[in-house]
Amino acid sequence: MLLPMLTVIVHGGAGSVDGERLPRCRSGCEQAAAAGWGVLERGGSALEAVETAVRVLEDNPEFNAGYGAVLNRAGEIEVDAAIADGELRIGAVAALPWVRHPISVARRLLERGEHVLLAGAGALAFARECGIEPDPPEQLTTERARTRWEKERAGALPPSGTGDTVGACALDCKGRLAVATSTGGLSGKQPGRVGDSPLFGAGSYAEKNFGAASATGHGESIIRVLMTRSAIDRLRAGSAAMTAAAATVAELGERVAGEGGIILIDRHGAIGHARNTASMPWAAISAGLPSSGT
Ligand code: GLY
Repeated sequence: MLLPMLTVIVHGGAGSVDGERLPRCRSGCEQAAAAGWGVLERGGSALEAVETAVRVLEDNPEFNAGYGAVLNRAGEIEVDAAIADGELRIGAVAALPWVRHPISVARRLLERGEHVLLAGAGALAFARECGIEPDPPEQLTTERARTRWEKERAGALPPSGTGDTVGACALDCKGRLAVATSTGGLSGKQPGRVGDSPLFGAGSYAEKNFGAASATGHGESIIRVLMTRSAIDRLRAGSAAMTAAAATVAELGERVAGEGGIILIDRHGAIGHARNTASMPWAAISAGLPSSGT
């Protein structure tokens, strides 16, 4: 039997990052992929690898997740995240206020195994139960997020049309697949709004023997086409990883005029990535070989 090809791929969100930030976003993705790869290389699980990679992205203020998440209409941060493995074990949190690493709250929910998705005050109570406290607003809000919110309020900038989510997929030495996705959602969103990222089959999906996928972009559109499930169904039907990614993004545009992107891994460790936006920084390491792009 062939040994699984250890692989991790991450993205920093589909959207239109300005030229100056793009190299920083690409480098942030490379750092996250390296962190995930470190876990895989020492024999860690795919689940551990995607959580580790996404935590690095949540700590990076360039990305709309954790520290650097966008503000909602009330000027507050509410984050969504999901983590899942190929055994259909899922943990997800939605509209969770002021937490820097929602992916780790989601992981704790997965490990507990009782519920799949917690939202709002209930998600925060669960985080606290796990010893994860919300951050003070000034420690989570970046100058960029605040300025954008102020411009949107003043009508000087249209509300964002894509969610700039971060995400990761991995395949480990035992052939296990996992996915993790984390986001601040749409800038200027209504408080309580939940996007695609925490919804299994929409923003995040993994299934053993087939693949794992993380989507990014306009959440309402991604939910309508169950984007990540649709991508894995293409792998199930025999598509190559890159073909499945491209066809799934094309479907997003054609069926619901949605903007976004996707990363995925198939069961052999082949990677796929595609976008119909101006940019989507991504990075991967497969069998020790790094690659990245925007
Ligand atoms: N894709 C992230 C969101 O729309 O919330």
